[in-house]
Amino acid sequence: MKRIGLLTSGGDCQALNAAMRGVVKSLVNSGEQIELYGFLDGYRGLIYGEYRMLDISDFSGILTRGGTILGTSRVPFKTIREPDEDGRDKVESMKHSYYKLRLDCLVILGGNGTHKTANLLREEGLNIVTLPKTIDNDLWGTDMTFGFQSAVDIATQTIDYIHTTADSHGRVFIVEIMGHKVGFLPLNAGMAGGADIILIPEIPYDIDKIVDAIELRKKRGAKFTIIVVAEGAISKQDAKLSKKEYKEKVAKAKYPSVSYEIAEKIQKKTGKEVRVTVPGHIQRGGAPDSYDRVFASRLGSEAGKLILKGEYGFMVGYKNREIVKVPLDEVAGKLKSLDPNAAIIKEAKMLGISFGD
Ligand code: F6P
Repeated sequence: MKRIGLLTSGGDCQALNAAMRGVVKSLVNSGEQIELYGFLDGYRGLIYGEYRMLDISDFSGILTRGGTILGTSRVPFKTIREPDEDGRDKVESMKHSYYKLRLDCLVILGGNGTHKTANLLREEGLNIVTLPKTIDNDLWGTDMTFGFQSAVDIATQTIDYIHTTADSHGRVFIVEIMGHKVGFLPLNAGMAGGADIILIPEIPYDIDKIVDAIELRKKRGAKFTIIVVAEGAISKQDAKLSKKEYKEKVAKAKYPSVSYEIAEKIQKKTGKEVRVTVPGHIQRGGAPDSYDRVFASRLGSEAGKLILKGEYGFMVGYKNREIVKVPLDEVAGKLKSLDPNAAIIKEAKMLGISFGD
């Protein structure tokens, strides 16, 4: 008999349910007796002892369902050691929930912040297995996270839609794609959607280079330009500021996001009409695509295997086309970002895509 806790934490994404289903199905099909405790709304449920007992029927029909059947929340790692408003020690409370239910292990699905707390719980002696979720694909230790491909599909479709209207009106269009710190999603969606300019956090841009790219397209007879801007795109000038200075600058600025600042500058410099589209959380919504359904199911069943073997303290990841187990202390606190000299960037440049650098 294994008593297993499950929780999903941080921003949601597609295939969280598919991944949990993978874990549970693989355990059930192994013949092992299991008791399942689903903590509600991420670490919050673990802190406050809010959970519900689950059985196999809870995992039927959820392969294709977006979101998470357990709910999620963001409980920032940087304040995890600070008591809550009632003076409660969050880490001790999480341990208390775990021991009170006599859990054998806790399966945690999440991204970067989630993994820091998961590793902390491991250090505190809990048996932890994690699964890598995020549309950003920025988790260290895995080549791929689930949610990413589905989000690329949605972002690509958005760019496809914008293409037709940009063409009709001969406008410059900016499509702002999620990714505050890394550019995997904007880059992949931008390439898939045939964007002309892609701005990502890893490659600070020069506004004049963007204008040059627009003018060059015009010279070559193009009526419109599509620019994909990552949420965290940053100019070369701003990249020189300290984190604090940059935060202050953004707070003072009147723009809802970086795209609007870029749009205004382009409009001033070119006299062209610029429009901004922000698909936002649509990118995390809806059903997982077929890739993510398979991928998350595979990761889930490998997590089941680790649990059956009693191998804890690992994230189930994907490296060089193989599912691997990665020690949690190697994952926690590290960000996977795009190398500006990566082959894919060079190839994109060869296709004529400008990065504004
Ligand atoms: O980490 C996933 C992500 O969707 C990022 O791409 C985005 O910047 C952020 O979460 C948005 O966070 P929230 O859902 O808290 O607004």
